[in-house]
Amino acid sequence: MNILVTGAAGFIGSNFVRMLVGRGEQAKIVALDKLTYAGNLANLQDLMKDPRLTFLRGDICDEQFIAKLFKEHRITHVVHFAAESHVDRSILSSGPFIQTNVVGTQVLLDAAKANSVERYLQVSTDEVYGTLPEDQPDVKFTEETPLAPNSPYSASKAAGDCLVRSYFHTFHMPVLITRCSNNYGPYHFPEKLIPLFVTNLMEGKKVPLYGDGLNVRDWLYVEDHCDAIWTVLKKGKPGEVYNIGGNNELTNRRITEVVLREMGKDWDTSVQYVKDRPGHDRRYAIDAGKIKQELGWEPRHRFEEAIKTTIAWYKAHEDWWRAIKSGEYLKYYQAQYAGR
Ligand code: NAD
Ligand code: TYD
Repeated sequence: MNILVTGAAGFIGSNFVRMLVGRGEQAKIVALDKLTYAGNLANLQDLMKDPRLTFLRGDICDEQFIAKLFKEHRITHVVHFAAESHVDRSILSSGPFIQTNVVGTQVLLDAAKANSVERYLQVSTDEVYGTLPEDQPDVKFTEETPLAPNSPYSASKAAGDCLVRSYFHTFHMPVLITRCSNNYGPYHFPEKLIPLFVTNLMEGKKVPLYGDGLNVRDWLYVEDHCDAIWTVLKKGKPGEVYNIGGNNELTNRRITEVVLREMGKDWDTSVQYVKDRPGHDRRYAIDAGKIKQELGWEPRHRFEEAIKTTIAWYKAHEDWWRAIKSGEYLKYYQAQYAGR
């Protein structure tokens, strides 16, 4: 297997490459990343010496570069993580989201088609389904839930998914789509809720809680997500969508309480309610019954332990996140949180 992993220097992509290398999978891994603000070679540094791994810097939107890469490395499998991934940034400016998440996906699909790859897996998100009512806890997203994206981020991901679907129906390409809930764990970029809150508290800053803090997300440890993707790549049925979730719905207030407790901080001095995110989806919840019944996957990590592991990782890797929380990040932080 010659596997192309796009977005390999990002949060989930780097955890996926680490899992493949750590498990001793007999695959040649081509790790591709543009190294945008979110891509960080430090995420892969300890793996770079492994002879199975080749890192390439490049843009998935660059047709010629991608065509050459597929030929030279005889790509047989694609796991497509590369994306603009932060909802708040998509509200500030949506152009890069359309470019990478839609056009980039089309370029990869065409290269995968031209090279008759054995499997193409699109890593997508539960956010393509839109939002759920909070007063009906039994209602969850299934694979049959209609797409109803509400942010420029989720709209661009849904567009990518639609393209993938069309390449199955039109060209009979062996594609798979996974739609996962919110991940947490090591190497998570500190613009997202959990790493932002943990690192702000370590810096002695307050944590900005949007709106009333009662929005609900389903949280899954990143290693479980990576394992699910590998399971779908190996055992999934082409043309199918698989939802992936942690069966772990929590309000943002509850996440904040847990983080504060683990960091030894109190609510009144550490939490600042700020203006809500425009169009903020109220609740996401995943029915992951299909992947469990058909492919035998379910999460192995429990939130109460895995959040401790995650926080311990940020405490042990101050150099990693302090290097990020400077430069370009500062400009973003000011634009995002000023006047809220
Ligand atoms: P991330 O922002 O941490 O990483 C994205 C990576 O893609 C970065 O390394 C970036 O440099 C790279 N990239 C961006 N544009 C590129 C381009 N044009 N060409 C090549 N590389 C490019 O994101 P993440 O959290 O690791 O998410 C990975 C994937 O998983 C995304 O597709 C996202 O939609 C999906 N997803 C994420 C979550 C989550 O909770 N983080 C949940 C479900 C699905
Ligand atoms: P985020 O990590 O951005 O993931 P997503 O929006 O893709 O679910 O946000 C998770 C939740 O936390 C979401 O309801 C928005 C909220 N949030 C805050 O309350 N404050 C913040 O500073 C951030 C970044 C997010």
